[in-house]
Amino acid sequence: MQNIVILTGAGLSAESGLGTFRDQHGLWTKYDLNDVATPEGFARNPALVHDFYNARRANCLGASPNAAHAALARLQRAAPDRVCLVTQNVDDLLERAGAVDVVHMHGQLNRALCADCGHRWDAPQVMAPSAPCPACARAATRPDIVWFGEYPYHLDRIDRALMRADLFVAIGTSGNVYPAAGFVQQAAAAGAATLELNLEASATAALFEDTRLGPASQIVPAWVAEVLAHWGG
Ligand code: OAD
Repeated sequence: MQNIVILTGAGLSAESGLGTFRDQHGLWTKYDLNDVATPEGFARNPALVHDFYNARRANCLGASPNAAHAALARLQRAAPDRVCLVTQNVDDLLERAGAVDVVHMHGQLNRALCADCGHRWDAPQVMAPSAPCPACARAATRPDIVWFGEYPYHLDRIDRALMRADLFVAIGTSGNVYPAAGFVQQAAAAGAATLELNLEASATAALFEDTRLGPASQIVPAWVAEVLAHWGG
């Protein structure tokens, strides 16, 4: 049985109705990421940033996992110690599909973080700048999302998983945001085979040994079925 590291991006949740960032109608064509996804933007206008993430939280609550989430959850449940699911997505659709352990490197919409004391708690559906931190009572509540200019979470754990990966698979991610976009090279350097599953070739497609193109809801279940058949045999 192989050790598999899977990196997912916004394309995984696109067919669940959650917007991607850089496609033609992506979120970053409608919003300036400097305003809503940086610590400086939050300092300038916390209400705007909360409005942005409140809307995304509401979208997420109204969305359901698609066949690709379900397939990845099935794969992880078949071999929890062998399948490391890393996501850049801040939604919880993999968990709702039954995944047992998801590494959220860019944070989570359903978590809140105190910018003052670092306390974390379950986010209410609607967050406001005036909401006090339950631990220190200061009004420094922010979404527990990694913004541009901040360090992604769990990089040590991800490094360890990449070092022992036999196969690295990137699903529905554009290959534009580092460090995630560099995982393919890290995995390949450590000896892993590499596979990209995407609607269209990503910015880093040339770095993968193999690419399969199509909607995640079709190509991910097909790939997972192959792996499970291989393991079963
Ligand atoms: P992007 O919006 O940059 O890229 C989405 C990718 O999904 C593209 O490569 C599309 O081709 C692909 N895609 C779209 N629909 C798909 C489908 N139905 N099936 C398969 N693939 C599909 O999103 P990410 O690469 O995830 O970070 O973005 C990375 C990070 O940039 C995000 O986590 C976010 C963003 O700024 C922060 O907010 C910190």
